[in-house]
Amino acid sequence: MYVTPQLAAEYSAIADPYSRLWSPVIRPMALPILEMLPLAKAREILDVGAGTGELFKDLRSRAPHARVTEVDRSQGMLRVAQARGGALLAVMDAQRLALADAAFDVAVCIFVLFHLPDPVKALRELRRVLRPGAEIGTVTWGNDPGPPGVAIWREALDAAGAGPDPRDPSIMQHARMNSAAKVDALLAEAGFTVIRAQGRRVEHRFTVESLLTVQLRCGLASRRLPSLATETQARCRAQVEERLRRLSAEELVYRPEVIFAVARR
Ligand SMILES: C[S@@+](CC[C@H](N)C(=O)[O-])C[C@H]1O[C@@H](n2cnc3c(N)ncnc32)[C@H](O)[C@@H]1O
Repeated sequence: MYVTPQLAAEYSAIADPYSRLWSPVIRPMALPILEMLPLAKAREILDVGAGTGELFKDLRSRAPHARVTEVDRSQGMLRVAQARGGALLAVMDAQRLALADAAFDVAVCIFVLFHLPDPVKALRELRRVLRPGAEIGTVTWGNDPGPPGVAIWREALDAAGAGPDPRDPSIMQHARMNSAAKVDALLAEAGFTVIRAQGRRVEHRFTVESLLTVQLRCGLASRRLPSLATETQARCRAQVEERLRRLSAEELVYRPEVIFAVARR
């Protein structure tokens, strides 16, 4: 089984490349949620699964009077957030928050819910720590073909005999929340009143170099390649690179759907 503590260790190991390479891809995709939340008046903001704290500056600029608390299960991710400074940090499982009842005015949970074996339990915890009338914003993946070249990687890794992705399905629950209606239902099940839930298509333009680097340092390839002997890894990587170089600029555009939801306690 490969569940939460192992996932936390995995994130700790990739915290630096996550912050340098993957965050610039997904942070802009998440930003619209901040415009949907009452941040200007907030005094206490909670970011659950805050990771490397990439959204701290964005939260701070919209909520200049607020204290921002960032919690995450991965110590390594929070270490990067700590170097950034400014927020109150704590290692914590989203499904069991060591936080007081009714303590926050706004909570955000961005690209995290699908990693939780029990997302409804986590949402109930989030509801508990929010004040009556306070709001939560969630961001999850909707219809997502995966970054460009992911099919090429799968084919090459399978052909080379690489082991499967070590992540257990219990921490890859995208199918439970990949539409506005599904996220709406999860939030309602946890006792929230849903204000809005909507899908939007977003995009990021990769170059072959930026795509290869992100996949090798913190994507699927980084998890499956190490199961191969060094020479086979190098051959597999070279084959993929050659095929990626044949993709057109249009084929190098990543266009996932993102689900934004806002709900009130
Ligand atoms: C894709 S990252 C998103 C990080 C950040 N929200 C962002 O948008 O950059 C997922 C984060 O969820 C955290 N995470 C996974 N399972 C968790 C859990 N059970 N409790 C708290 N955090 C968890 C991971 O450690 C990781 O930092």
